[in-house]
Amino acid sequence: MKITDSIKYVGVNDHQVDLFEGQYKVPNGMSYNSYVILDEKVAVMDTVDAHFTDEWLGNLARVLDGRKPDYLVVQHMEPDHAANVANFMKAYPETTVVANAKTFVMIKNFFELDLEGRKLVVENGSSLSLGSHTLTFVFAPMVHWPEVMVTYESSEKVLFSADGFGKFGALDVEEDWDDESRRYFIGIVGKYGAQVQALLKKAAALDISIICPLHGPVLTENLGHYIGLYDTWSSYRPEEEGVVIAYTSVYGHTKKAVELLAEKLKANGAPKVVVYDLARDDMSAAVADAFRYSRLVLATITYNGSIYPFMNDFVTRLVEHNFQNRTVGLIENGSWAPTAARVIKKMMEGSKNIKWTDTTVTIMSAVKQENVEQIEAMAKELC
Ligand SMILES: [Fe+2]
Ligand SMILES: [Fe+2]
Repeated sequence: MKITDSIKYVGVNDHQVDLFEGQYKVPNGMSYNSYVILDEKVAVMDTVDAHFTDEWLGNLARVLDGRKPDYLVVQHMEPDHAANVANFMKAYPETTVVANAKTFVMIKNFFELDLEGRKLVVENGSSLSLGSHTLTFVFAPMVHWPEVMVTYESSEKVLFSADGFGKFGALDVEEDWDDESRRYFIGIVGKYGAQVQALLKKAAALDISIICPLHGPVLTENLGHYIGLYDTWSSYRPEEEGVVIAYTSVYGHTKKAVELLAEKLKANGAPKVVVYDLARDDMSAAVADAFRYSRLVLATITYNGSIYPFMNDFVTRLVEHNFQNRTVGLIENGSWAPTAARVIKKMMEGSKNIKWTDTTVTIMSAVKQENVEQIEAMAKELC
């Protein structure tokens, strides 16, 4: 696949992966992108996942068409991209590996590979000429590991953005970019909003025509849309007005309260209401939507003096990913001692700029008239 006359795609599609990074469902698979820049010198940008060594080396050989690569640029050491560094160096032993000092430490940790005389240690902002193409390396620590750097090629205005602007889903499947990119971003990079903001500031100073990420499609049009979404997500601003209700229920009473709330929200004109059963629906989609919308309601039973395990997992993920700037309401249920609201507020006490609704719904087993009134009051507050 051709990106430009001299930049070629040599990545692979993965439809075998059951859980990406050991936890994310990827119904449309995953792509591990890798690129080749053909100039007086030839540079290969990153490798791919361990399961695709032969396919990737085959793609590479076809594009190289008998030439030998001069450089392997390693932007990110996570194994979905860097698993084939040693295999590549076995196939092309005369290549110079181009990476920063942190990356070379990780290469040693992963491969015990001796690269003496075959490495070029780059600094933040340093450049490498390939002939008519010039690569400039911009360090992007914690987007998404500490060694990450992105690479700007100035002659064709291409940003090789590492995990940035990546998404779930293989390239041979048509699907909406925003949803699967949001789920990817919030799940994988979401904790590092400040670092993404720093990278966006650096990127704003560059004239960019093409973004080549390590996952998902190459972006060539409407770049403002993608960069705008990244700015929204990494600054933890809600993307849309709407209410997410995330709940756990064992015998259906808490679920009944949630259904009633959803109905009342719609009746009060809520622009969007999205409901997640945390035991059954995809957790990463629920987390991504909690960040997408402006309001959140957590509804859970009390369990072992705390909250139900799926809700515990959900709130932990929100807090870990720096959930902030949202209005949050609570519905708790307990047959003898409801404690869920107190437990959740304690878990989220370090979360910035959370506005709790005045109404907390407290159900003792089954929804009663007083609860219906509380739910009506909460619906009004959220609209
Ligand atoms: Fe990564
Ligand atoms: Fe990745």
